[in-house]
Amino acid sequence: MIEEICALKREQGAVILAHNYQLGPIQEIADMVGDSLELSRAAAKLENEVILFCGVDFMAETAAILSPKKTVVLPERSAFCPMARMITSEQLREMKALYPEAAVVCYINTTAQIKAESDICCTSANGAQVVNSLQELQVIFVPDQNLADYFSRYTQKKIISWNGYCYVHDRFKPEDVIGSRKHHPHAEVLVHPECRPEVIDLADYVHSTSGMARHAKSSRTNEFIIGTEVGMLYRLRKDNPGKIFYPLSDKAVCENMKKVDLDKVLWALQTLEPRVWVPENIATKARQAIERMLVI
Ligand code: 13P
Ligand code: SF4
Repeated sequence: MIEEICALKREQGAVILAHNYQLGPIQEIADMVGDSLELSRAAAKLENEVILFCGVDFMAETAAILSPKKTVVLPERSAFCPMARMITSEQLREMKALYPEAAVVCYINTTAQIKAESDICCTSANGAQVVNSLQELQVIFVPDQNLADYFSRYTQKKIISWNGYCYVHDRFKPEDVIGSRKHHPHAEVLVHPECRPEVIDLADYVHSTSGMARHAKSSRTNEFIIGTEVGMLYRLRKDNPGKIFYPLSDKAVCENMKKVDLDKVLWALQTLEPRVWVPENIATKARQAIERMLVI
């Protein structure tokens, strides 16, 4: 099946991008595995006519917004990010009316409609930089409250947050960190900024998923407790064969990230379906928010 996928990929002039949370076999066949920032940068630059996005819907949408002439395919149509659906355009417009002086920053985990209503987009890797690049002193940040709390540690600006959250990261509790440290006293604890503030306070480092990959490679430590979705451990173990990685909780599974498998990738390459497409009136505005981020 892998041989067939590789041959079809060449035939279709396709590139396969995969998020760090994808299943092992998908990471193996991908041309690039990365975090949201790396994948959107790649989507903006790649020459390939077809982008096969192994991840969830907002990621493929971001690629489609940045490359409207390309064919963007999400192998599983129903793979979505629940957090991205926790705010509607109407709710964001109400928030903007309450704080007319504020700039609007949206996390990349949002629908194209929310991006179109925002001034600028950010990812977990660059949120503080994005917020600090703005002239406004007030910032509306949607939809992740934990991420807003985390970025507010690195800015003087007033951050007005929405109450969205990622159910995978929000489930980690301080007891998980305390318990894991007891079992693995020599391990460094790395957590994602989508975690609750009380979990972040107990961690050694806070990183986006690719930030974790870089940290694990360069650290002199040999053991790590990883506070993010369990798919991340596949990449960490592969990149660092001599090191040991423990999940902060083995229940940290994003069901939507696990919906893509090799069968679906093969079918998607054969049919170039399901195709992701964003209406041009929304895409034009959303593109401005994403491109503003990419400049920074
Ligand atoms: P990053 O890979 O950008 O850190 O994002 C994590 C995430 O939850 C993506 O859905
Ligand atoms: Fe959304 Fe969380 Fe899944 Fe990422 S891990 S896609 S933020 S639900």
